[in-house]
Amino acid sequence: MAKIAVLGYGTVGSGVVEVISTNSASIEKKAGEKIEVKSVLDLRDFPGDPIQEKIVHDIDVIIQDPEIEVVVEVMGGVEPAFTFVKKALEAGKSVCTSNKALVAAHGPQLLQIARERQLNFMFEASVGGGIPIIRPLNQSLTADEINQITGILNGTTNYILTKMSRDGSSYEDVLKEAQELGYAERDPEADVEGYDACRKIAILTSLAFGATVQFEEIRTEGITKITTEDFKYAEKLGCVIKLLASSRKKDGRVYAITAPFMLNKDHPLYNVNDVLNGIYINGNVIGDVMFFGAGAGKLPTASAVVADVVDCVKHKGKNVMTIWSMEKMELGDADDEERRFFVRVKGDASDLSAARDAFGQADPVTVDGLAGEFGFVTPKMTERAFAEAAGKISVINRIRIDDTVLQ
Ligand code: HSE
Repeated sequence: MAKIAVLGYGTVGSGVVEVISTNSASIEKKAGEKIEVKSVLDLRDFPGDPIQEKIVHDIDVIIQDPEIEVVVEVMGGVEPAFTFVKKALEAGKSVCTSNKALVAAHGPQLLQIARERQLNFMFEASVGGGIPIIRPLNQSLTADEINQITGILNGTTNYILTKMSRDGSSYEDVLKEAQELGYAERDPEADVEGYDACRKIAILTSLAFGATVQFEEIRTEGITKITTEDFKYAEKLGCVIKLLASSRKKDGRVYAITAPFMLNKDHPLYNVNDVLNGIYINGNVIGDVMFFGAGAGKLPTASAVVADVVDCVKHKGKNVMTIWSMEKMELGDADDEERRFFVRVKGDASDLSAARDAFGQADPVTVDGLAGEFGFVTPKMTERAFAEAAGKISVINRIRIDDTVLQ
């Protein structure tokens, strides 16, 4: 019997307890022994709920309990999660977490502590919710040199963009609806400004390329400036707008970005809609691989956490190695990245002289009902050259175009 503790009885924590109970027989078969939740740390009490007899309010009760072998951290946030996880590892317990903020901020240090003690620090649920992506990167794609990872890694923004695209509704209206449905937080900043997706691509990039990417160094733009008018142009171009988080290796350097992109219908992530996530990976041997599924939610996330618990139980006394080291990765200069851009400018589509002077080439795209402006797609150019050219004309908005993946 392997006894575990769960830190945090919120949505994911209660999901973990539920999954372990619902699938106890099959989990026992796969882990090689029964898994039992012995303690649950939470500030609150749950009178009348069977969980109450397991609730503890003091982390040290768990840390000092020699019977507890694995600690599940699903509290979220960097502190006190980091202090609790570090204490648990130092006390000889493996840790599984769904907390991307913790992994992005302290992943390599916690991996190092686990390695030194022949324990495990696992975080499958921190990226892509229930989608297996950490384990594939860490164990299945080890024959490959990874060239590129491009993902829709945030369900909230994908829901908002999908709704805007389908219904023609404004960003503000869809956000409000998403909040009412519980898909978006009351404070939606981390999702809509791209910070959540940025942390997730930092984690995947660090795992794939072996050194630590500091998420603060990734160029990150959210979806708050995307309008219904942008979607009208996107439709005219046969494209959708998606928040992509991407990293790729070019000439020995890794370049990363999180931003809204236009994708055409041949793009592998074109049909990843609503709250779903999708991740495209290109390896030099395997070629293209796609992962798709529920990127958030109580039971999908709990499924990934419990799979990590099973892995920890199967690997007692043995560290499952990752190549993610504490060494810092110097990312390539985001201004050197080359791509095409869709640009909306003020003016009349019959007078392209300013746009052509700035960009060399500009075939106009117009949308019925949108007077006094037009759009065009630039040639492939660096971000630096784009910013310089855009400074010469009256740009209303611009959206990058992703055509880096196989199409
Ligand atoms: N807020 C996140 C999302 C939750 O919308 O994807 C899962 O990390």
